[in-house]
Amino acid sequence: MDATRTPEWRAVRAHAERLDDVHLRDLFRADPGRAERLQLQVGDVEIDLSKHRVDDAALAALVELAEASGVAPAIERMFAGDHLNTTEDRAVLHVALRAGPDARFEVDGADVMPDVRAVRARLAAFAEDVRSGAHVGFDGRPIHDVVHIGIGGSDLGPKMATQALSAYAHERLRVRFVSNVDPSDLSEALAGLDPATTLVIVASKTFTTQETMANARAARAWLVAAGGEDAVARHFVALSTNVDAAAAFGVPPEQVFGFWDWVGGRYSVWSAIGLPLMLSVGPERFEAFLAGAEQVDRHLRTAPLAANAPVLMALLGVWYANFFEAETHAVLPYDHDLVHLPAYLQQADMESNGKSVTTDGRPVTTTTGPIVWGQPGTNGQHAFYQLLHQGTRLVPVDFLVAARSHRPVADQHELLIANALAQAEALMVGRPEDEARSELAAQGVSGAKLDLLAAAKTFEGNRPSSFFLYPQSTPEVLGTLIALYEHKIFVQGVIWGVNSFDQMGVELGKVLASRIRPELDDGAAIGPHDASTRALIERVRALRGDAR
Ligand code: F6P
Repeated sequence: MDATRTPEWRAVRAHAERLDDVHLRDLFRADPGRAERLQLQVGDVEIDLSKHRVDDAALAALVELAEASGVAPAIERMFAGDHLNTTEDRAVLHVALRAGPDARFEVDGADVMPDVRAVRARLAAFAEDVRSGAHVGFDGRPIHDVVHIGIGGSDLGPKMATQALSAYAHERLRVRFVSNVDPSDLSEALAGLDPATTLVIVASKTFTTQETMANARAARAWLVAAGGEDAVARHFVALSTNVDAAAAFGVPPEQVFGFWDWVGGRYSVWSAIGLPLMLSVGPERFEAFLAGAEQVDRHLRTAPLAANAPVLMALLGVWYANFFEAETHAVLPYDHDLVHLPAYLQQADMESNGKSVTTDGRPVTTTTGPIVWGQPGTNGQHAFYQLLHQGTRLVPVDFLVAARSHRPVADQHELLIANALAQAEALMVGRPEDEARSELAAQGVSGAKLDLLAAAKTFEGNRPSSFFLYPQSTPEVLGTLIALYEHKIFVQGVIWGVNSFDQMGVELGKVLASRIRPELDDGAAIGPHDASTRALIERVRALRGDAR
């Protein structure tokens, strides 16, 4: 179904036109109660949606759009294990990975939970052995360093989560992440490490990804040079759906932890791919992380659409992307532990909804997924906030703020929170020209200078943001936050009618890279390419030749 051709879409457009030049200041003036009303809570996360350019009527129209787009049945189809990933003919069931002890999830008639629980129990036992020091390296000493090799969904989730919960990190274990095929990445990660006390995790859903396999082979050679072939069994772990390929790489079966094709790479942090997090914070906290996500799963299924946090997050994204021409969405954690969250959400969102054909193979008729970006506050304030406040583009923003720091120093955390609140307020309220003028006049500025400065110091405001507030960055909170975004992305995909669970757009580059790789060698034939690519290949060869 094409949502853009429905009366509900047209109704939303009418509200967008009505509200186009209505300022958030006026919405608050007319309805001070909106601050209370547009506030949601899921688990320990409070979400303030009041600084959005909507009123009750517009929100009701958006909820009707969600209903007309079939969001509620799509949610049930996901939980029922239907093959929502139509192009790859797969179920989409990452929710099963965080389901409670009594849950039953079926894929093609079979309950997947016994396998899910069995792998998690094996992971927990392995993690405990590494953490306690019972698992030793080739010279009998316990593991000190973990090098996790993976890319995309096999890297970003565990990297983001391990950093986010670094306050709970095991005191002996240090975890490093390697993703880039650029040899500098692995070299830097291995620098200073003792192979005898290093555990290497090779994480790849397919176990064929070029970058990951190249880094895994190099890490293997590094280990074997120090400890011999036999050391591989003690020092290598594999996380993959391709258990046979992992075994062929030389990882002993007890250190291969599987997952399933119904877990998308970018939704896999809850699976074996989360092992670095489990090693770092321990199996119990990993369970708490899962439980935080499960709360959102329950909320998604049971809360009415009008009070459903991921659904409202999704609808507000649609509102700005499709009706206000917003092209990007900024994620601004005022929480340094979440430093990798923007990069994680970039893949989650852009690989899921960066699509231009619908689930039935037709071109979409409207804009789909936004460009997601961001970095932690307050750094961004001194870099790109100028554009957020006074640029010509509308950029909806998410602020994420913990009320308490894990590592308080003087009043720095209070300063951090004050900045987040101030930015959200400034974006919304702005500063009218008359206010700028009277401030300047009070400072003795007058005439043409006053006109110039008043224009430059005027902030239009009316720039929307969501504010996510939580007591502290705990495992539960992290699980809740990630699942909120996951389901937001899913709901948006349903409204846009796209398959949020394949990633065909990354394939072409991979194929071409394999074709070009041998063409970089001196004397090798260069196959057919466009003139620009061919010239660049020749230039690279010349420069590499010059360097020899
Ligand atoms: O970049 C495409 C992609 O397939 C991602 O979807 C995935 O997360 C990443 O590559 C890594 O894939 P794998 O886990 O199979 O190595």
